Amino acid sequence: MLQHLWLLLALRCLAMGALHPPQPEAMTPLVAATLQILAEQVSPSQSTLAVMDLTPDAGHRDHRQEQLMSTILRTMGSEMALRTFQKPPDAIPASYVVFLVNSAQAFNTLSFHFTDVHSTREFSFLILLTRRMSSRAERLQVLRDISRNCVRFHTANVVMLTEKSDGVVLVYGYRMFNMNCDLSVNLELIDVYENGLFRHGHEARSFNRGLSLSGCPLRVSWYPLAPFVFFNGNASDPEERAEIERLSGIDGELIKLLAHIFHFRILLDEPCDKCLSLDIKDDCSGCFDQVIYSNSSILIGAMSGSHQHRSHFSFTSSYHQSSLVFIMHMSSQFGAVAQLVVPFSLPVWLALVASSLLLILVIWLRNRLVCRQTVSTCHALHVLTTLMGNPLEARSLPRSGRSRILYAGWLLLVLVLRVVYQGKLFDSFRLPYHKALPTEISELIRANYTLINQEYLDYYPRELTVLTRNGSKDRFDYIQGSGKEGKFTTTSLIATMASYNMMHWSTSRLTHIKEHIFLYQMVIYLRRYSLLKFAFDRKIKQLLSAGIIGYFVREFDASQYRKPLEEDYEVSPIPLDSFCGLYYVSAIWLSAAVLAFILELLSQRISWLRRFFE
Ligand SMILES: *[C@@H]1O[C@H](CO)[C@@H](O)[C@H](O)[C@H]1NC(C)=O
Ligand SMILES: *[C@@H]1O[C@H](CO)[C@@H](O)[C@H](O)[C@H]1NC(C)=O
Ligand SMILES: *[C@@H]1O[C@H](CO)[C@@H](O)[C@H](O)[C@H]1NC(C)=O
Ligand SMILES: *[C@@H]1O[C@H](CO)[C@@H](O)[C@H](O)[C@H]1NC(C)=O
Repeated sequence: MLQHLWLLLALRCLAMGALHPPQPEAMTPLVAATLQILAEQVSPSQSTLAVMDLTPDAGHRDHRQEQLMSTILRTMGSEMALRTFQKPPDAIPASYVVFLVNSAQAFNTLSFHFTDVHSTREFSFLILLTRRMSSRAERLQVLRDISRNCVRFHTANVVMLTEKSDGVVLVYGYRMFNMNCDLSVNLELIDVYENGLFRHGHEARSFNRGLSLSGCPLRVSWYPLAPFVFFNGNASDPEERAEIERLSGIDGELIKLLAHIFHFRILLDEPCDKCLSLDIKDDCSGCFDQVIYSNSSILIGAMSGSHQHRSHFSFTSSYHQSSLVFIMHMSSQFGAVAQLVVPFSLPVWLALVASSLLLILVIWLRNRLVCRQTVSTCHALHVLTTLMGNPLEARSLPRSGRSRILYAGWLLLVLVLRVVYQGKLFDSFRLPYHKALPTEISELIRANYTLINQEYLDYYPRELTVLTRNGSKDRFDYIQGSGKEGKFTTTSLIATMASYNMMHWSTSRLTHIKEHIFLYQMVIYLRRYSLLKFAFDRKIKQLLSAGIIGYFVREFDASQYRKPLEEDYEVSPIPLDSFCGLYYVSAIWLSAAVLAFILELLSQRISWLRRFFE
């Protein structure tokens, strides 16, 4: 029995031994450095990691690479989902990718197509050069080749590790912009791993090491559109254009701030035209061409994140929004004096005048026949002052009974008319000051408004559209000039209209219809696959949340803080609260009157009080 127990115990020990994990192989410094970087920068924030094992000729596997791969899998596998690839895939499946390569050729086998989806995703590459290089020159050559390939994939977040023969691991990154601004790839030794320790803090070897353009110039194209971009000065004069502080507006201030942050110099191009419509047959070459075909890197001026042109560009995340609306001329219903006439229609006014004239005539005739006096101007004055609400003087009343009846009848008429007029006048003050405008796009179309625009719109009939190359200001001037008879409309951003109205505050009658077309997301256009995109995105988000862009908006975009012109005259019910002052004063008067009444009553009894009421 005891023997069996011993056997059981022995078996148990054996089983436990089998379950023990095998002793980890001695980690090479390269693996240790890799694991530390992954643990610092990838596994805390990411759930997936792609690991690619690339060899120049598929099939021949490198022993060191296999060992590396299995160590990484074993260590990282418990923390993240890993996807491993033994040959280059068509697309990159994760944002963070570890490449195991033994030569530059191995990395070159990577050839995926940079589709639009990829241009909106930011990749970070950790590249392990597994082969030990015999010389420094050879090592740098290979790393430079790999970096050039990374540029081909528009990825700047690259950390390259390589191990020297003495076990020291070198950590490299690369930069595109050097002092000469020649856009060559410059390797940078960013950290060294020696005796199990990195030399610098982990910011030094981070994937996002912060973009700095070393003061290199970038050409900036701009579409002038207040309040987003405008230039204080003569924009066609190259000397004035070199003075960047003249550039202003929301986009203008933003790009100046970005230039300061990323340390680049703005080379301002001449203001450009959007040349939106291809239906106008002129060889217009605009902002978009400047960025697509020419050397311009950045395009500002209220660029839309949803316009069809966006596919030719990389664009940043949105930093501001404004509504696109239909603009039209707003005409007032009546002038200041006309509003006083509105309560009565023309026949009533004529009847009033006729009856007054008749009365003057009657009084004049009576005086002429009975008293033989002619003071008709005096009578006319009496009639007029009575009409205006003045009391009659007793001596000017006619004495004979018949004309008294006529006069009394007329006075009654005046009383009724005045009450009616006051009531109606109050009503007419509450009328909208402006003619009713279409509030919806469909009403605009039904009323045959002609749209003056830079391109045909899907939501407006083509036969009612006139194409023009004119910018917003010219179109606004045109609509403003054609007045209320011209049935013209155009589309614009609310902010642009508000800015125009502010510039022409005394003359402008432009307003927008209630229905908005859509909310326009403003972005900055960059060249396609631009390395600037992700750095700009991050910074724009920071500036947004810090309220700095909000500050620019507050300074330049009046539409956010002002009501449109039309709303000032909107009819709204008069709240009872607004009469409270009146109630207060009448309550005081009423109490005073009651008090006086009581005192007067009392004065009948109290002799000393009587003195005050006599
Ligand atoms: C602006 O500058 C250009 C080029 O120097 C010049 O031809 C033009 O007359 C200037 N315009 C004004 C309004 O000064
Ligand atoms: C772009 O820049 C290069 C180098 O500065 C120059 O040779 C080329 O003419 C420029 N292209 C255009 C369209 O300006
Ligand atoms: C608009 O134009 C169409 C066709 O020209 C015409 O039939 C219609 O009566 C017009 N509508 C208005 C409100 O003028
Ligand atoms: C466009 O602008 C030009 C010059 O400012 C003007 O002559 C023309 O009438 C404008 N066209 C429209 C449709 O506003």
